[in-house]
Amino acid sequence: MDQTPENATPSATSTASRTRTSGPEAPLVHAVNVMKSFHGTEVLKGIDLDVQRGEVVCLLGPSGSGKTTFLRCINQLEAIDGGRIWVDGDLVGYREKDGHLHHLTDKEVATQRRDIGMVFQRFNLFPHMTALQNVTEAPIQVKGVGRKQAQERAVQLLEQVGLGDKPSAYPAQLSGGQQQRVAIARALAMDPKLMLFDEPTSALDPELVGEVLRVMRDLAQQGMTMIVVTHEMGFARDVADHVVFMDAGVVVEEGKPQDVIGNPQHERTRSFLQRMRSEDREARDDEARADSQDV
Ligand SMILES: Nc1ncnc2c1ncn2[C@@H]1O[C@H](COP(=O)(O)OP(=O)(O)O)[C@@H](O)[C@H]1O
Ligand SMILES: [Mg+2]
Repeated sequence: MDQTPENATPSATSTASRTRTSGPEAPLVHAVNVMKSFHGTEVLKGIDLDVQRGEVVCLLGPSGSGKTTFLRCINQLEAIDGGRIWVDGDLVGYREKDGHLHHLTDKEVATQRRDIGMVFQRFNLFPHMTALQNVTEAPIQVKGVGRKQAQERAVQLLEQVGLGDKPSAYPAQLSGGQQQRVAIARALAMDPKLMLFDEPTSALDPELVGEVLRVMRDLAQQGMTMIVVTHEMGFARDVADHVVFMDAGVVVEEGKPQDVIGNPQHERTRSFLQRMRSEDREARDDEARADSQDV
């Protein structure tokens, strides 16, 4: 193949997409044909996803469909095997020069990752640090923010997540819902462009789910761009601008929540949603039984 700069791989496609991947009108996240295998097993089989600025995208799908892996690829906790991801116009993990891709250095990767906040199913707070210290740690250590300034901001953020009265509490002294809200404040302390949530409420007791979803709703309302993996269909229906249903490493169906959740077109989406509804019902029945035994 003729390797002139005009048509050398991969510049032929990426030059075309560069105009779409940067600038205020471009999507904040632009993922094209993302592939990932583990030990020869394809886990992501060509995922395309655009997330506009200020948009909330909910990622639904059965366990093992590749949702966590996809978030980890956006955040460079995994390297992709094929395709491209741009975040705010920057190609994730690579620099393009003379039509060739070059791996970014560890330092450049760290710089890209700073702009992306991630909240996990397990809260992963530092157990030996107070809520306030958990929130100030990264801005001080990674960004070099002064201690006083970091603390002032952390106090604001703890207030924002409804924990203004808990700066001195250690994780073990907090409920799961409170810990998860500290984890959200901690991610926000880095002033991320994008927040990734990986089933943030699925490790919580049912009565604590609402307080975390409320914080996420507020965040969405304030215009944060978010990708949320969740089984909370009510949240997806009310808060998501766009819903993506994944199964077995592919996007099966996507669109507005009222369409994907309210009127799914694919059998796989329908059976997944049905399963979610019956699990919800069983959980409610279990709770009702537990409540009646309490009396
Ligand atoms: N580090 C890894 N090594 C090997 N297999 C993995 C790894 N991470 C995920 N997988 C596999 O990839 C598939 C998708 O996993 P995951 O992305 O966690 O799905 P989901 O979040 O939708 O449940 C699963 O079959 C899982 O076992
Ligand atoms: Mg997962």
